[in-house]
Amino acid sequence: MNIFPFQAALAASPLPAPLSAPLPAPLLRAQDVSIDYASGAGSVRATHQVSFDVYEGDRFVLLGPSGCGKSTLLKAVGGFVQPTSGGLLLRGRRIVKPGPDRIVVFQEFDQLPPWKTVRQNVMFPLLAGGVKKKEAQARALHWLDKVGLARFADAYPHTLSGGMKARVAIARALAMQPDILLMDEPFAALDALTRRRMQEELQALWEEVGFTMLFVTHSIEEALVVGNRILLLSPHPGRVRAEIDSHRFGLASSGSEAFQAAAQRIHRLLFGDAQPAAPDRESAAGEPAAVAVQA
Ligand SMILES: Nc1ncnc2c1ncn2[C@@H]1O[C@H](COP(=O)(O)OP(=O)(O)O)[C@@H](O)[C@H]1O
Ligand SMILES: [Mg+2]
Repeated sequence: MNIFPFQAALAASPLPAPLSAPLPAPLLRAQDVSIDYASGAGSVRATHQVSFDVYEGDRFVLLGPSGCGKSTLLKAVGGFVQPTSGGLLLRGRRIVKPGPDRIVVFQEFDQLPPWKTVRQNVMFPLLAGGVKKKEAQARALHWLDKVGLARFADAYPHTLSGGMKARVAIARALAMQPDILLMDEPFAALDALTRRRMQEELQALWEEVGFTMLFVTHSIEEALVVGNRILLLSPHPGRVRAEIDSHRFGLASSGSEAFQAAAQRIHRLLFGDAQPAAPDRESAAGEPAAVAVQA
């Protein structure tokens, strides 16, 4: 069990653990976030009292079946949707609107305006944010090079494959140097082999650049491959079912017995009737905010 690496260090220490563990401040904190949508005369609750902390450098995954509020939570972090109750804090400040410190990469390929070249697509939000043209151009080329698309800077999106379009979207997002990269099923529309390749490239890019990301998926395998921490959500309304540590899994281990066992365990936690193990983390209200399991 190792939600926080620091807790593991404390547990191994011969000294008694202090009452309040010296955790760093989270980059992003979701605190009892409930979100309702207006629906006809009434409202639909999309998420119910969801809490989680994302630390700098995390690859934090929101995992759950369709309708469990993953996209809603990501939109709320993006500042596009406001919580009905609870709060979202970035570096301790409440999120109230979209900002360049949080950039979203969506699943849809049509997120790239087709009349702009690849380079212009990457430059566009930089210019809109007030970056000078020369600097925007340099940054665009730098990030296109990082995702292996330097040769395609002057191509138009319709000439690119799905995987290449996804790379452009990632380059465009990282060129903005956000505090956190928000990804909503960015590879879901890709064929299996391209999807795998993109997961691999994302991992390599993360190792090289070291950004923080919040990644949404409904694929258990993708969550284990991409994430170092996974929040499991159940639907109607979206609630936290468990939080697991998945840092030791990656593409290299995806065929292993341990990986398969972790995947089965997640499946049971998401879809089984059995209640997860004892609460490990308490919310401010004293209710279990998340349950940790050894994946
Ligand atoms: N704009 C909306 N208006 C009304 N209900 C919505 C809206 N968006 C999502 N919902 C509802 O909120 C719940 C969570 O949706 P969503 O966040 O899209 O889940 P997920 O991304 O996990 O599939 C679902 O029941 C969905 O029908
Ligand atoms: Mg969704």
